[in-house]
Amino acid sequence: MVILGIESTAHTASVGIVTDQAEVLSLATDMFRPTHGGIHPREAANHHVDVLPGLVAKAIDDAHLRPSEIDAVAFAQGPGLGPCLRAGATVARMLALTWNKPLVPVNHCVAHVEIARVLSGIDDPMLLYASGGNTQVVAYGAGRYRVLGETLDVGIGNFLDKLWISMGGTFPGGPPIEAEALRGSELLSLPYSVHGMDVAFSGMLTATLALRAKGASTPDLAFSVESTAYSMLTEVTERALAHRRRTDVVLGGGVACNERLRGMVKAMAEARGGTSFAPPKSLCVDNGAMIAWTGHLAFQAGLVVPVERSAVQPRQRTDLVPTPWR
Ligand code: ATP
Ligand code: FE2
Repeated sequence: MVILGIESTAHTASVGIVTDQAEVLSLATDMFRPTHGGIHPREAANHHVDVLPGLVAKAIDDAHLRPSEIDAVAFAQGPGLGPCLRAGATVARMLALTWNKPLVPVNHCVAHVEIARVLSGIDDPMLLYASGGNTQVVAYGAGRYRVLGETLDVGIGNFLDKLWISMGGTFPGGPPIEAEALRGSELLSLPYSVHGMDVAFSGMLTATLALRAKGASTPDLAFSVESTAYSMLTEVTERALAHRRRTDVVLGGGVACNERLRGMVKAMAEARGGTSFAPPKSLCVDNGAMIAWTGHLAFQAGLVVPVERSAVQPRQRTDLVPTPWR
């Protein structure tokens, strides 16, 4: 069985084709990069409308398939920016109708989690989902993924992006902050905001910009932000492991590309006698393969929708969607 998946929830348009063994046959991605400031939903949606037809053609070509050999079309239904979601959903509906294939809606957050889980080979891990809009500690229980802890304000990636743009850079901020942090050495004091298994970042944004105004160097600021923010994530993940009596952690989401975060979570998990796993970076950031793989799981569980009931859901939370395949 072969599934085509379309991702378009925010900045990234992507088409992936995977098999029922989670083998990625092709992945074609094009990220919208604003020249200044953050993501404007309408501009990003226009970008997706422009590039998605070419990405579909490329993905099919690269996988050496004919459309008739694709078994279902999956798309990210939410959460995300309304205009961006509608761009991907429209292409998915059109393909499903033209090719006469089942249409499968997928939750973007569950997709980050499921691609990481299948690649890890760990059946029932604790999941740290750290991305642009979301920061959640997630575990499966009684029919759906449960959010044990999460950000109380912005997602960690949005925090890093906003910080970097405020410092004069361009979107995305995570990778350049990671590069700057490698040259930093002094740990500056920043708000460490952990509340039970929840975290918050807006105080750290204000404090970092205040330190910059006082002359702190970019490498030291980047080093201190990463040290503080990733310690917070590692702490809440450890608390969730302890409460749920689990040992293994799987990371997902764009911020899981970060080597420092990977290292800190790995050290924590190993100190507890467990393991930690993060997918290859191309499958941590937004990608069509994770939508296709989760589409496969949903399709097998019968979660197919008719086109007229495939409306996008910009606010669809991780813990709102049933996952009958678990
Ligand atoms: P969500 O899944 O919450 O909807 P998203 O879809 O906007 O978020 P992803 O593609 O999953 O985003 O993640 C993008 C985020 O990952 C951006 O905020 C980016 O700065 C961050 N990121 C990417 N690479 C790194 C890195 N090496 N270190 C830290 N952050 C990173
Ligand atoms: Fe994402």
